[in-house]
Amino acid sequence: MSQAPVTASNASNAANMIDPFGRMVDYLRVSVTDRCDFRCTYCMSENMTFLPKKDLLTLEELDRLCTIFIGKGVRRLRLTGGEPLVRKNIMQFINSLGRHLESGKLEELTITTNGSQLHRFSKDLFSAGMRRINVSLDTLDADKFKAITRWGDVNRVMQGIDAAQESGLKVKINAVALKGFNDDELPKMIEWAHGRDMDMTIIETMPMGEIDEDRTDQYLPLSKVRSNLSNQYTLEDIPFKTGGPARYVSIKETGGKLGFITPLTHNFCESCNRVRLTCTGTLYLCLGQDDAADLREPLRASEGNELTSNAIDEAIGRKPKGHDFIIDRNTKRPAVSRHMSVTGG
Ligand code: 5AD
Ligand code: SF4
Repeated sequence: MSQAPVTASNASNAANMIDPFGRMVDYLRVSVTDRCDFRCTYCMSENMTFLPKKDLLTLEELDRLCTIFIGKGVRRLRLTGGEPLVRKNIMQFINSLGRHLESGKLEELTITTNGSQLHRFSKDLFSAGMRRINVSLDTLDADKFKAITRWGDVNRVMQGIDAAQESGLKVKINAVALKGFNDDELPKMIEWAHGRDMDMTIIETMPMGEIDEDRTDQYLPLSKVRSNLSNQYTLEDIPFKTGGPARYVSIKETGGKLGFITPLTHNFCESCNRVRLTCTGTLYLCLGQDDAADLREPLRASEGNELTSNAIDEAIGRKPKGHDFIIDRNTKRPAVSRHMSVTGG
């Protein structure tokens, strides 16, 4: 009789979260705040209404929830927002999560940031055990940066990226592809990123939340981006994976890697390994669907973790098969009414 080797998929099965489609959930994205110090035009309206502070989980409660998830098989955890680094005392929380890296229960702790606070926090992030970060950056041009973020300063972000690399953090640049805004600039951004030893990922705009502009005007299919780039560069598909939905190519001329995240033109839901927790303790089971579970109530209802653990199991048991993002040209309504800043991508 042959014995199956112990792999990630059959080790400590009791603790693992497996959804009805057989997908193992081992990746948690945590939006620690819905607030942000930028107002990117494709993400937010200029006068956003944020959550009342009283609805937020405390950092201690967030830590407790994350720890429950880690106990249930989460191996990689990413902090997002809004802008995660604008939450008060955020380093206290990140340092505390670092204990799970030390114990080996957590393989990786990462962050997605707009870079505005990295000049202050990079060293501390590295000390807490973080090794990779994603910086969202859609243009290198100071005026265009101001136009797209409404409130941001690209020089601060550049200082932040310098600080991050000096601290030893591996940086990946995430750029949202926006028609008529950065399509021409993408080759320059790729060369800049690869020249600094940073990989880059290009993301299709997703129809999430009411914004002040028309999303159909912004939508640029990445198939178009890719075919434009292949006029200029030699792109080679590679099997490189970071555990997310990006498909990577290597670019011969720059020697770097370029990822494409294409929620609208390709579906990658079959291999989805993630769920998303908001700063109010709502668990979203898919970025492109409204299915959610409240974990704040069971978390607060008792000191033990059983109620919360059961609520998580119940939620994973109804993780939807996939998203159905469409930008509806007739109604112009977003596919998902909540803003990206609620769940952080
Ligand atoms: N579509 C695609 N990406 C978005 N982001 C914010 N809003 C959208 C959207 N509607 C990106 C940000 C950041 C990440 C958290 O999500 O640029 O990279
Ligand atoms: Fe803030 Fe990111 Fe949204 Fe821009 S895209 S407003 S940086 S949360």
